[in-house]
Amino acid sequence: MTYDPISRTFVDFFREHGHELVPDGSLIPPPGDPVLFTTSGMHPLTPYLEGRPHPLGRRLVNVQRCLRTTDLDEVGDTTHLTVFRMLGSWSLGDYGLPQSLRWGYELLRDGFGVDHDRLHVTVFGGDDQVGPDESSLRTWGELGLPVELTGQENWWSNGPTGPCGPDTEIFVWTGDGPPRGTPGTDGRWMEVWNHVRMRYRRHPDGSLTPLRQPNVDTGMGLERLEMVLRGHRSVFETEGLVPWVRGVRDVWDLRDEPLRLVGDHLRSSVVVVGDGVRPSNTGRGYVLRRLLRRVLTTLWRDEPSRSLSDLSTGPVRHTLDGFRQGVTVEEVREVLSGEERRFRELLRRGRPVVRRRRSRGPLTDEDYRDLHDTHGLPRDLVDGLLSEVG
Ligand code: ALA
Repeated sequence: MTYDPISRTFVDFFREHGHELVPDGSLIPPPGDPVLFTTSGMHPLTPYLEGRPHPLGRRLVNVQRCLRTTDLDEVGDTTHLTVFRMLGSWSLGDYGLPQSLRWGYELLRDGFGVDHDRLHVTVFGGDDQVGPDESSLRTWGELGLPVELTGQENWWSNGPTGPCGPDTEIFVWTGDGPPRGTPGTDGRWMEVWNHVRMRYRRHPDGSLTPLRQPNVDTGMGLERLEMVLRGHRSVFETEGLVPWVRGVRDVWDLRDEPLRLVGDHLRSSVVVVGDGVRPSNTGRGYVLRRLLRRVLTTLWRDEPSRSLSDLSTGPVRHTLDGFRQGVTVEEVREVLSGEERRFRELLRRGRPVVRRRRSRGPLTDEDYRDLHDTHGLPRDLVDGLLSEVG
């Protein structure tokens, strides 16, 4: 497996401290998993966090591709990506969180050269079920880092039920001039690394019970770390994104947020297609469809003749190579063009239908249902067409 220098430094550091490298998996979780996509490095490790012995031992490290649909509305700013890579480390019932924080601090400062003064942390301040995270407070105090106490922002879970626990997040100052305020008061503090004390299981009634073993689960966004280390102002200046930003700008006149959204969603779509997903009306396929339709909607807002086939093959190839995916550039382009054709046709047929319906008054839930069932027009698409009508 080949890694970029930043991932290499991360993996080597943890291997030197007795961690075994877990190969990265695809974005598609194993069968039977209720989640559509892998959203975090811990996700494929869930059974082991719950107590099953891992074949590689109790200390693990990896670099895992992740996809977060929860962040879709944030994408377009300078720090969120739909598909990103997470550098992760785990203690499966082995060392405790204070050790993880000390290693984290050491690696950031000495391994990656991030200035102590650019760091700030947040710590779980307690709620009605679990007390404040005193031991993290103590450890950060000993390391001399400024701490902000928060509530639910410092509680991590992968879903409404399952393994979860309080976390402590490390932020880096990304503003010009000396750091100001705290992560809660100034958005120029960017979260880079989350350390979770993964020691509870949440049940459907909301109650918590301790897991069989207390674990540590950490995750750091590779693109964000690269942004910090290279002094970039945005994750869109990092190695994996630059070809997309350039490729999109070369063929379409887009800037700022629309440029970032189109670049992110196209790149993410390529990774999703590379992992075997095809557009459809349900599940993963629908996430892919939504990503591509958001791209097309953004492109056609200014110029309806724009087509995904305008784009050169360079960025597609770069991403497939970067994620070591087996599909060909041609296969990916066929999927994208097929979806574009379907969407164009759907809009062509849907526009007059929605106009007619709207002329009778505001749409009811029954209208939406009928437009979906009879005309194949999903609600978000109808809303898009309504906004054209005004
Ligand atoms: N699982 C934790 C996260 O994704 C580390 O933030």
